Formats: sequence, structure tokens, C-alpha cells
Amino acid sequence: MRKIILAGNWKMHKTQAEALEFLEAFKPLVTDTPEEREVVLCVPYTALGTLSKHLHGSAVRLGAQNVHWEDSGAYTGEISGSMLKELGVRYAIVGHSERRQYFGETDETVNQRLKAAQKHGLTPILCVGETQEQREANETESHIFSQIEKDLVDIDQQNLVIAYEPIWAIGTGKTCEAPEANRVMGLIRSKLTNKDVTIQYGGSVKPENIDEIMAQPEIDGVLVGGASLKADSWGRIVNYQ
Ligand code: 13P
Repeated sequence: MRKIILAGNWKMHKTQAEALEFLEAFKPLVTDTPEEREVVLCVPYTALGTLSKHLHGSAVRLGAQNVHWEDSGAYTGEISGSMLKELGVRYAIVGHSERRQYFGETDETVNQRLKAAQKHGLTPILCVGETQEQREANETESHIFSQIEKDLVDIDQQNLVIAYEPIWAIGTGKTCEAPEANRVMGLIRSKLTNKDVTIQYGGSVKPENIDEIMAQPEIDGVLVGGASLKADSWGRIVNYQ
């Protein structure tokens, strides 16, 4: 059975106070959300502790936006799996295109981070996706297959989520057409040994397109940036029809 997972990625947005304000408004919107839908908020490290306390007893799960491969050490600016685990974090995004693009993360370090997440009992959300140039050069499939092959070396596919995020659709308002996202995600699934891995779509998901996206057979959830920052739009997304 493939699990439905709807995750918000707040990126570098919201102070603790703003996060709490969001939660106050959001919690009442998920009281009737079907329980087979897992709702996750991947928030900045500084908001994890506070949200963890305020989510106690709630079905909403916490996620981080990265995790380092070592348990501790001289790695200024990084965070370890045990630090996240202590705060009640269940998920960690790994290999987001913004990390690969702006912070030099490679398939090799992404693979190490995935291993560390699993070692600490976190479920990694591995992000893959092509640039506009790669899509125009007909390299979408080969690029994504290469990412999957390198990133998943020695990774347990029983504890894994994959997010297909075409880079040209992130924060641009240009959504990948739902049937096309479905096609690429089917190809991703064909490369996996565990066919029940949850595969999410990410890139300009909003209340206006969530119903069509979730109606696609290969799409098991979404990873949402901008539209997860407002309680009403995020509420509409998790309560998709
Ligand atoms: P947007 O939903 O803002 O396009 O961001 C997508 C994303 O990068 C989620 O990880």
C-alpha cells in the first residue's frame, strides 16, 4: 500500500512566533482530514522545538529540510540526525534542488545524507528533477535516472519518499502538467525495487491545481513550498477532493 504524504516545505520562512501563529490557524483545518493522509511540515531548524511541543497529540508530523551524514563533529552550520530525532522530527528533505544548486550538494553527499537519515530512524524525502535546459534537450529521463541510481546506492527503499520536483516549476507558477508529472513519476517508479515508495510531485502546487494533481495514479502526495506558508491554502491542499 502506497502511503499518501502531503508535505509543506517552508524553506527559510517564519520565525518561531510566526510558526506558532500559523499553527493556531492551521490546526482547526485538519480535524476532518482523512487519517490515511499524512500531513508533514518541514520547517526551519529554529522552529522545530516549538512546533514539536505544540504538535503533541496532533496527527501533523514534523520534518527538517536537511540532515548531515555524521552524528557530530566539526561541521559548522550543519545538523545531525540525533539532534533532529530528539526534537520529534520524523522526516528530512534531502537533495532539494536549492541545496544542490546553491550549496554544492552532489549525488554522493546526498547519498550519505540519505543513509544518515535512515540510520537515525528518520524518513528521507529525496528530491530529484530536471532543469528547463535539460527538459528542452530531452535529457529529463536520463538526468533523473542518473540521480536515482547514484542517490539510492545502499539505501533502504522501505523507508523512503521521493519527490519529483522539476526545477523549472519551483516557485515559478509554472506547474508541470499533471499527466506529464504522472508519466515521469511512473518512470521513476519503474526504476525502484520497492514499488510502494511514496512519490510526491513538487513545483507550484496550489489550491487551484491540487485536485487534478492528486487524481493522477502515480502521484502519492505533494511537496509544497509557497502555498504551504498560509494556513488557508495549505488547509485546502491537504483536504484535496
Ligand atoms: P513551490 O511550491 O513554491 O513551487 O516550491 C516547491 C518546492 O521546492 C518544494 O520543495
